[in-house]
Amino acid sequence: MSTKRHILVTSALPYANGPIHLGHMLEYIQTDIWVRFQRLRGHQCIFVCADDAHGTPIMLKARELGITPEKLVADTLVEHKRDFADFHIGVDNYHTTHSPENRELATLIYKRLNDAGHIAVRTIRQLYDEQAKMFLPDRFIKGSCPRCGTPDQYGDACEHCGSTYSPADLKNPVSVISGTRPVEKESEHYFFKLGDFEDMLHKWTRAGHLHEAVTRKLDEWFKAGLQDWDISRDAPYFGFEIPDAPGKYFYVWLDAPIGYMASFKNLCEQRKDLKFEEYWSKDSKQELYHFIGKDITYFHTLFWPAMLSGADFRTPTAVYAHGFLTVNGQKMSKSRGTFIKARTYLDHLKPEYLRYYFAAKLGSGVDDIDLNMDDFIQRINADLVGKYINIASRSAGFIHEYFQGAVKLPGDGELQGEPQQHPLLQEIKKNLAGTHKLYEARQFGAAISQIMKSADDINAFWDQQKPWELAKQKRLGELHAACSVAIESFKLLTVALKPVLPDTAEKVERFLNIAPLNWSDLSTQLPDWHRINQYTHLVIRIEPANTKAIVDASKENLTQTPTKAVANMEPIFPEISYDDFAKLDLRIARIAKAEHIEGADKLLRLTLDLGGETRNVFAGIKSAYAPGQLEGKLTVMVANLAPRKMKFGISEGMVLAAGPGGKDLWLLEPHAGAQPGMRVK
Ligand code: 2FM
Ligand code: ZN
Repeated sequence: MSTKRHILVTSALPYANGPIHLGHMLEYIQTDIWVRFQRLRGHQCIFVCADDAHGTPIMLKARELGITPEKLVADTLVEHKRDFADFHIGVDNYHTTHSPENRELATLIYKRLNDAGHIAVRTIRQLYDEQAKMFLPDRFIKGSCPRCGTPDQYGDACEHCGSTYSPADLKNPVSVISGTRPVEKESEHYFFKLGDFEDMLHKWTRAGHLHEAVTRKLDEWFKAGLQDWDISRDAPYFGFEIPDAPGKYFYVWLDAPIGYMASFKNLCEQRKDLKFEEYWSKDSKQELYHFIGKDITYFHTLFWPAMLSGADFRTPTAVYAHGFLTVNGQKMSKSRGTFIKARTYLDHLKPEYLRYYFAAKLGSGVDDIDLNMDDFIQRINADLVGKYINIASRSAGFIHEYFQGAVKLPGDGELQGEPQQHPLLQEIKKNLAGTHKLYEARQFGAAISQIMKSADDINAFWDQQKPWELAKQKRLGELHAACSVAIESFKLLTVALKPVLPDTAEKVERFLNIAPLNWSDLSTQLPDWHRINQYTHLVIRIEPANTKAIVDASKENLTQTPTKAVANMEPIFPEISYDDFAKLDLRIARIAKAEHIEGADKLLRLTLDLGGETRNVFAGIKSAYAPGQLEGKLTVMVANLAPRKMKFGISEGMVLAAGPGGKDLWLLEPHAGAQPGMRVK
């Protein structure tokens, strides 16, 4: 094997205001397979990621939820980490761009660029929401398209005629935040002078760091001319303040890729064997790869190498862009149930099915990948269960029934005319060893085809040997040889599939009773009389009901408002001050009367005695109490709640209860000595 390489790999950083979906998973699975392959080959391959935590949408989402952006991004980070871990994404570090390391590095890079004269300051005019007191990003302005007049279009592009424009050109613009008409206002902005790097970028984009399809796309941008890039945003903004520029913040896309470095720096603080400078200094010998979606090519192949080079850091070894994920041939859609969250998928199916399916379809280019549900079921059942796992399940039975679980590969004449190694094994080893070039080149689909070709050969061998007949005829030597060849070739297939199926590979290692497999195990073999364990199910078939359940559950998600979807992570009550709390007039009330309400499922009508005053209150406690159980009880009520008009009348207060709901709901009951009307504090 070649000398040990030192490789640093990243996947693009997901925004911290939404769930991980299968589009993210396509990229993370692609990256993870490549990383695991490198590790199996004996290289050091470090995989770092982070959440992309800054920007206006995250600030506004937090506001909508009544929590701080810090809390929103911290909660989301927990969810994202869990989703990736459950898909067996083997990151070494998953950090956040809202981190001290990122603040420090973003500041450093900006200062170096500024010192070298690559930052310009200019006043620009932008649309401003006077009610929300903020400048509006393009996506927060809607109006009619200046070209075709279609209403309800975003500030940057028309979905109807495809034209792009500036928000100031929109007809009848409205702020999405307040619903008011924005005004134009001036503000000073900071720009990164991308044009300073034209020569450097022209060379870099042609020096083998990119797929040729990406280089072709870049040519169009070069022809259009490299424009200065606006890297500042005005307060209010969730991000890092620009040094010496109060009220100005780094635009989220400035510090997002720096988040790659920051996550690695954070890892270096945990692992003393890693040195930040060795990977990021200008003369670094280590390899650096970014896996991204094709939509963010501009940022990664122009801005990012230019920023790194201008700030005296190394540039990436390569940027690998992939295509989009479609589901059943179409863009992922919430109404069709094909906008599938990672968690929804995991609720119904094992992650490795999807890992395998994506691997089988991935190439090194930017073509879109389709997840077709019928093809998915068919492919998994035919390949993983029908071709791969079956080899083990069929041969292990004979090995245990006739040979006490021990394998013995032929080589001493059990199969007629045997050379030292069985020809099938020789053939498979040669074939599988060749897949390393395909993995290296991210031609995973081609690698999988090659592996499945070996699986076909093994199954053909099995059918031709007819072990069930050998058993019947008591030709035990031949039976032992055939089953041992099958088990050994199953081991070889497992090595080649291990980057894709890490969990199954681990189970196979237990079943075969061997140490963790490495790529070099393509040239080892199980020793004679090695004992394997009993076969237990390794991979089971997928049923159409499984994928249907995923699609149905994804449709259901739609019925939740976005607020609730995020609220599922955590309660979202805003903090209140003591003064707010002190405004509550909590009083003892006697339930004088409790009555059913015609047509109400949950509510009872309560007449509350407050000691001389009575109140009519509707309480949602019908699931826990019958009216007869309530009359005469004392409870605590909020007496100064403004009267509310409800479907069945006006409610003049609220009774307090505790519990998760349903039958488990307990009224807060004061003890004897309490008098109706008394204050509770
Ligand atoms: O497009 C996105 O989802 C961005 N959050 C990706 C950022 S990748 C990197 F630059 F940080
Ligand atoms: Zn239009």
